[in-house]
Amino acid sequence: MITAEDLTIGYPGKPLLENLSFKLGPGIHVLLGANGSGKTTLLKTIAGLIKPLNGRVVVDGIEPYSVKRRIAAGRIGYTWQDPYHGFIEARVRDEINFILETTGARGNWWIVEKLVPGELMDRDPYTLSGGEAKRVSLASVLVADQPVWLLDEPFNELDYDGVKSLLEILRDARGRGKTIIIVTHLYPLTNSLHPDKYLLITRDHGLLIDDWSRLDDELLAESGVLPRWLICGGTC
Ligand SMILES: Nc1ncnc2c1ncn2[C@@H]1O[C@H](COP(=O)(O)OP(=O)(O)O)[C@@H](O)[C@H]1O
Ligand SMILES: [Mg+2]
Repeated sequence: MITAEDLTIGYPGKPLLENLSFKLGPGIHVLLGANGSGKTTLLKTIAGLIKPLNGRVVVDGIEPYSVKRRIAAGRIGYTWQDPYHGFIEARVRDEINFILETTGARGNWWIVEKLVPGELMDRDPYTLSGGEAKRVSLASVLVADQPVWLLDEPFNELDYDGVKSLLEILRDARGRGKTIIIVTHLYPLTNSLHPDKYLLITRDHGLLIDDWSRLDDELLAESGVLPRWLICGGTC
C-alpha cells in the first residue's frame, strides 16, 4: 500500500533521512523519533505535500506529489499536528464538508459523530479550544474515509472521551483494511490497538522498522523517544 524506493526526504540542501526503502501494508504502524528527527516531514512526503529529494514513494498506486492535491486527498488522509493549520472555512460544518466536495467521497458521518459534538457544527473553527479544534481537524479529514491514514500527533489535546472515540475509530478502520501510520509521543495509548509495527527514527538518521512486540525501552531512550518507564512511571 505504501512503498518507498530509495527515498530521501528533507528540504533543499537539508536531507533528513536518506535512501529509505520499505513497504507497509494494511494495519497500524506507529512512527517514533526525537523532536526534529523528521517524523512530520516523512508523513508529509508520503502524503504528497513535500517533494521527495530523491527516489520515490508510491501510495495506493499513485505517486502523491505528482498528482493533483484533490486526487491525493481522496486516497490519503493526512491530519495536521497543529489542527488550526488546516482550517480554511468559517464554520465547522463547512470545514467537514470541504473534503467531501473536493474529493467526491460519500462521507463516513459515524466518524464525525464520534468526534465532534453537534453544538460545535456552526462555530468558527478558529474560536474552538485546542481539544475541540483537534477533534474537528481529525473529523474534517477522516470523514473522507481514505484507504490510507497518516495521523500526526492525533492524541495531543484530546480528553478521555476524545481518546476513547479515536481508538474506536482506529480499531474500526484497521478492521476495514486501512493502512495507518500514527506519529505520537503518547504511544502507550495505542497498546490496546495491538499495532503491527513500529517505525523508529534513530540518532544516526536511520529508519528502523520492527514488530511492535519488540519495542525496547533502551533503544527508545537512545533515540530520544520517551521510554515507557518514564511515561507510565513503571511498566505499560
Ligand atoms: N520548510 C523547512 N525548511 C527547512 N527545514 C525544515 C522545514 N520544515 C521543517 N524543517 C526542519 O526539519 C527537521 C525535521 O522537522 P519535522 O519533520 O517537523 O520533525 P519532527 O520529527 O519533530 O516532526 C527539523 O529540524 C525542522 O526544523
Ligand atoms: Mg512533528
